[in-house]
Amino acid sequence: MNEMETKYFKDSWKPDYSKFNYSGWKLLSQFRSKDKILDIGCGYNLFKERLGDKIYGIDPANDKADEMVSWEDFVPKQEFNVYLCLGSLNFGPEDEVEAQVKKLADLTKKGDRIYWRQNPGTGDHPWKGVGDVRFYPWTMEKNREWCKKYGFYLKDCKMDTGNRIYAEWFVGNEYEYFAYMVDDDGKRDYAL
Ligand SMILES: C[S@@+](CC[C@H](N)C(=O)[O-])C[C@H]1O[C@@H](n2cnc3c(N)ncnc32)[C@H](O)[C@@H]1O
Repeated sequence: MNEMETKYFKDSWKPDYSKFNYSGWKLLSQFRSKDKILDIGCGYNLFKERLGDKIYGIDPANDKADEMVSWEDFVPKQEFNVYLCLGSLNFGPEDEVEAQVKKLADLTKKGDRIYWRQNPGTGDHPWKGVGDVRFYPWTMEKNREWCKKYGFYLKDCKMDTGNRIYAEWFVGNEYEYFAYMVDDDGKRDYAL
């Protein structure tokens, strides 16, 4: 993000988790008892109220984050197995977004999950300053391409409410994902 974009997310942008079919509050149903979640670009860190220490939010523009730092500069001090990229790795030219994806590939380990909300490039926010934001135009094809290139299994990729893409990436291949599902004890702590 450049300075104008950081200012936009600090001063103008507002969250709304209730409008998304998959990538807002509904995500709570995906989390398992033992998950440790890193919320990359957490904004106002809304999941924190529900999940407490189970989640750690980073964001360079919002002081509600547990740590005000960009994904590029983040150095983890604890282990995570679930990563959220909800509208956050979505700015600037393709090489910058791909470098962010590569960092995900470098830091994650087999069995980790990544949940995405991606803006396909539309500056459809109603807030002042949106014209200064360089939205990266995510596509489903780009999900397929980068999952293949960086060793993720694309478990799900579909349209969410409001012209956003929802995606789930699994670190490993399809067979490893199946083994992981068989191992699932079904315990979910967080009701919707
Ligand atoms: C559209 S908001 C989404 C916030 C929150 N995830 C949500 O779903 O409401 C995008 C957020 O990503 C943050 N962001 C943008 N680039 C980032 C980066 N490279 N590392 C971490 N956060 C970033 C912005 O500061 C902003 O708070």
